[in-house]
Amino acid sequence: MDTTARPSTIRWEESEDGVVTLVLDDPGQSANTMNAAFIDSLDAVAQRLVERRDDIRGVVVTSAKRSFFAGGDLRDLISVTPATAQQSFEAGMRVKRSLRALETLGRPVVAAINGAALGGGYEIALACHHRVVLDTPAARVGLPEVTLGLLPGGGGVTRTVRMFGVVDALRTVLLEGTQYGPVDALEAGLVDEIAADPDELLAKARAFVAARPESAQPWDRPGHRIPGGTPSHPKLAAQLSALPALLRKRTGGAPGPAPRNILAAAVETAQVDLDTAFVVEARYLTELVTGQITKNMIQAFFFDLQAVNAGANRPKGVEPGKVAKVAVLGAGMMGAGIAYSCARAGIDVVLKDVSLESALKGKAYSEKLCAKAVAKGRTSQEKAAALLARITPTAEAADLAGCDAVIEAVFEDTSLKHKVFQEIEHVVAPDALLCSNTSTLPITALAEGVERQGDFIGLHFFSPVDRMPLVEIIKGERTGDGALARAFDLVRQIGKTPIVVNDSRGFFTSRVIGHFIDEGVAMVGEGIEPASVEQAAAQAGYPAKVLSLMDELALTLSRKIREETKRAVQEAGRTWEPHPADHVVDRMIDEFERPGRSGGAGFYEYGEDGRRAGLWPGLREHFTKPGSEIPFADMQERMLFSEALDTVRLLEEGVLTSVADANIGSIFGIGFPGWTGGVLQYINGYDGGAGAGAGLPGFVARARELADRYGERFTPPPLLLRKAERGETFTDF
Ligand code: NAI
Repeated sequence: MDTTARPSTIRWEESEDGVVTLVLDDPGQSANTMNAAFIDSLDAVAQRLVERRDDIRGVVVTSAKRSFFAGGDLRDLISVTPATAQQSFEAGMRVKRSLRALETLGRPVVAAINGAALGGGYEIALACHHRVVLDTPAARVGLPEVTLGLLPGGGGVTRTVRMFGVVDALRTVLLEGTQYGPVDALEAGLVDEIAADPDELLAKARAFVAARPESAQPWDRPGHRIPGGTPSHPKLAAQLSALPALLRKRTGGAPGPAPRNILAAAVETAQVDLDTAFVVEARYLTELVTGQITKNMIQAFFFDLQAVNAGANRPKGVEPGKVAKVAVLGAGMMGAGIAYSCARAGIDVVLKDVSLESALKGKAYSEKLCAKAVAKGRTSQEKAAALLARITPTAEAADLAGCDAVIEAVFEDTSLKHKVFQEIEHVVAPDALLCSNTSTLPITALAEGVERQGDFIGLHFFSPVDRMPLVEIIKGERTGDGALARAFDLVRQIGKTPIVVNDSRGFFTSRVIGHFIDEGVAMVGEGIEPASVEQAAAQAGYPAKVLSLMDELALTLSRKIREETKRAVQEAGRTWEPHPADHVVDRMIDEFERPGRSGGAGFYEYGEDGRRAGLWPGLREHFTKPGSEIPFADMQERMLFSEALDTVRLLEEGVLTSVADANIGSIFGIGFPGWTGGVLQYINGYDGGAGAGAGLPGFVARARELADRYGERFTPPPLLLRKAERGETFTDF
């Protein structure tokens, strides 16, 4: 390979007193990544340092970009196959040899972290003897690999284990992938110093160099021991036995090999010398990158998320806008959460309910969240006070004057929603964006309650609003492009991820999650043990168990939605297909008076304080029949397939218009398991676990099998059949 042909991505700057500053600066790129040019440059720089060792005093590593170093190139990683795996393994080993030369140079080496140093970026910093970070919100540090199904294979496992000890390394950096801001990073020991500005950053780095003629890593000093002991130490062995439980808690026992590989790599690398450790770590990484789950996760959590947030679905040609003052109508659970999220983003909020007392109660929710954030040190007293000062509770329509957006969150009732919009349409700004947070009512019909139907749109938040990252934007038949663009911008302004769908009953999210819940309930009706149903959902990777979710939603609400949908279907002259879950829901409500959690009794029992106790024993008595167990794989795939198949129908119907929206919406809105990469990527990457073959053809074969065994609802829709026949996958590109 002709390495001289590639321009260097690392600039060598040498001061008169012999301090070499290595400036990471990939020419023509907005960020530094671990590409082939970088690997060559790092190698060349390391050799030159070793040769010049005697006449240099030390090294400062920093970057000319906004971020310090962006890490591995995910486009490369996602395309690694078993055939190319060895090549990428060797490239990784080459990087580690170069970094090892740096840390064993004998001269002090300091990382001056001027921006984000995540993943590969932090691994470079770990190979330095000292880390100084610039105090800016952009300068996050950590090893988030696990969140993409990866493992820090650039020395990250090996060095953090030697720095923190096995258990603490797993807890603080490896298993959760936490991204630390400068202050938290200092506290957790990920960096050694903070600098207030770029000048101080370099000054502190140089001061470290100036103070020492020599430097070495703790693990290269004689007598170094891994903090907390090696895994053979009895005390650590005891702690280690608790780790699988920690792992289960973090992942819910869901499929997804990254946490498991990280755990194994941490334990093994602690027991061998550094060079062997590097190989061990890299082998575990190779196993991950060649697997389907990691590809799914990179696709969803990186590429799809980026496309969605960048506005692939935002109408072009509409100037970006910002909302200054928003009216939130209804200060109940959702309204209160929406008010908080808007105020946190710096937007003034007028929070209106039927009485001042109710509105104040809604604002009290923000007070509670602020107090908690202050207590945990996540915000300051002043910032919390400023946030609360932005929320004005009221019962008077006149107080909404000048609002440039309205978000309605009153009870789920069309005529009530019409009424509240009539009250305020002429009070707010004449071009205010008009949004409803309805979770099921068609937007086109709701828009009929206002004069400016072109400005009316659905903005479907999820509960709890402050924690749920997704908002589903629903375009009604008469919604204009301007309103859609403004709604999109508003969602981004409050820091959430917007997906865009066309109007339809239940939209995308509510309709699809309904299939998941119905499938779980139907199994109870077939006589399957309710506890197995819950376990199947958890092991498939769903964050919430299926029957508990039905209780949260309320069986009565589920029945109400069913009745409304049935009426609409029949009015449209189509036949209504009942679901096997229906009779279970009806019996639970009518015969056993168990309407769900809010009614104090559902599939579960609830204590006086509303806390969930165990499953209701009556379920076994009234529903469970010995001998009705079905294969565990069928239980899991009935849930996963019911959601995936209906998502394909939604694409056919034109409710969904983008694959990325479907994938992101399913993971972030309705808890479709993250390891799948989302509800359509699940079909693309179907692994034929049950022997049906892989990919779309395998998925189709398996769907037919499920249809034969469990009902027509699993029949593959025409769009899926067409794509499978043509050898296509679900993709936007
Ligand atoms: P909620 O019952 O907690 O709150 C509704 C609030 O609206 C109450 O405070 C009530 O006093 C107020 N209200 C009633 N009439 C009003 C009027 N004329 N003017 C002003 N305020 C009035 O209900 P929740 O759960 O907050 O739901 C609100 C909306 O959000 C519904 O459309 C619901 O479908 C939707 N939604 C609910 C989700 C959930 O998880 N609960 C998720 C997404 C959307």
